[in-house]
Amino acid sequence: QITPVVLSGGSGSRLWPLSRADYPKQFIPVAGELSLIQQTVLRTVGAGFASPLVVCNEEHRFVVAEQLRAVDVAPRDILLEPVGRNTGPAAAIAALHLQEAGAAAEDLMLVMPSDHVMADVPAFLQAVIAATPAARDGALVTFGVTPDRAETGYGYIEAGDAMSLHPDVCAVARFVEKPEAARAEQFLAGGRHLWNSGIFLFSPQAYLDELEAAAPAVVAACRAALAGSTRDLTFRRLAAEPFTDCPATSIDYAVMERTRRAAVVPLAAGWDDLGAWSALWQLGEKDTAGNVARGDVLLHDTRGAYVRSDRGLVAVAGLTDVVVVATDDAVLVTDRSHAQEVKAVVDRLTAAG
Ligand code: GDD
Ligand code: MG
Repeated sequence: QITPVVLSGGSGSRLWPLSRADYPKQFIPVAGELSLIQQTVLRTVGAGFASPLVVCNEEHRFVVAEQLRAVDVAPRDILLEPVGRNTGPAAAIAALHLQEAGAAAEDLMLVMPSDHVMADVPAFLQAVIAATPAARDGALVTFGVTPDRAETGYGYIEAGDAMSLHPDVCAVARFVEKPEAARAEQFLAGGRHLWNSGIFLFSPQAYLDELEAAAPAVVAACRAALAGSTRDLTFRRLAAEPFTDCPATSIDYAVMERTRRAAVVPLAAGWDDLGAWSALWQLGEKDTAGNVARGDVLLHDTRGAYVRSDRGLVAVAGLTDVVVVATDDAVLVTDRSHAQEVKAVVDRLTAAG
């Protein structure tokens, strides 16, 4: 069986002021009617998968439970982290939890971020099916997307030869997480690299073996956090102290950049990481001047803009490529080409307390 493992502990700071630490973007319908986490859990429903396991911050337990119930998805369990330690520990907790629950050797986990869009779900499920035999043989399978820009916020995969036993799957020659701009340009120009979609298929044991080799302290801390955990219906709350002491690291840095068991399956399913406002402009429905407007918005002599108001009228006149987002208590004005810098704004706000 394959258990979908939904990682929902990020804060989505580049979509500020819509995405907030206490209510991050995965819980918001930023694209479509349903929130991103609802879209994520629904992707695997009715396709022969086990019920999903969610790993999130304990602060978000009710939002998660509520949003899943609203789309009739009963989670297998919801694992609660006292603090975020990035995706490496989150996936380890899920792997150890599945093993405790008696996972068989052929059982796999499909690790999915909770904040992406996927236009073509059947194509996504097809890719997962193609990846399954290799994952059962111990590969850590990633899903690679053909890049269309030199994005520095993604991991890059250089695909090697097709695996002899699994011709649909390629070995990973090299995995580079979040390269510098110059290197990303080279990867794009070379035409041999794929983006890491951030979705992984592997067995709990294969992941834990590779994490143990690279970051044994993470595995030890996660084991201790589970050993001291408490249960309350579907919630399993990790012991605070050992988990807080766990080193923070991502699946990509801790495991994918180092392991020799990485493999990749191509993913052409309209995948997008709605990382920043520029991505929402890209995906949004545009008027004849290339503007995306949501809410009470008036545009005059304006082109290529993303303008969203969740409160009151917002008017923009005579500007090009701007991003304006107005919420109840904050207004963001920036340029589409500077959309990544919103994170710096949030960092300053956090530092200021
Ligand atoms: N439970 C939990 N705990 N989930 C977390 C934590 C955590 O501490 N930190 C992040 N997540 C969740 C986020 O909510 C998101 O759904 C997912 O894990 C991925 O984390 P991000 O922080 O969004 O990662 P990223 O976008 O910087 O990079 C990853 O995704 C890219 C594609 O979107 C990497 O895998 C890259 O290689 C990849 O290209
Ligand atoms: Mg992301």
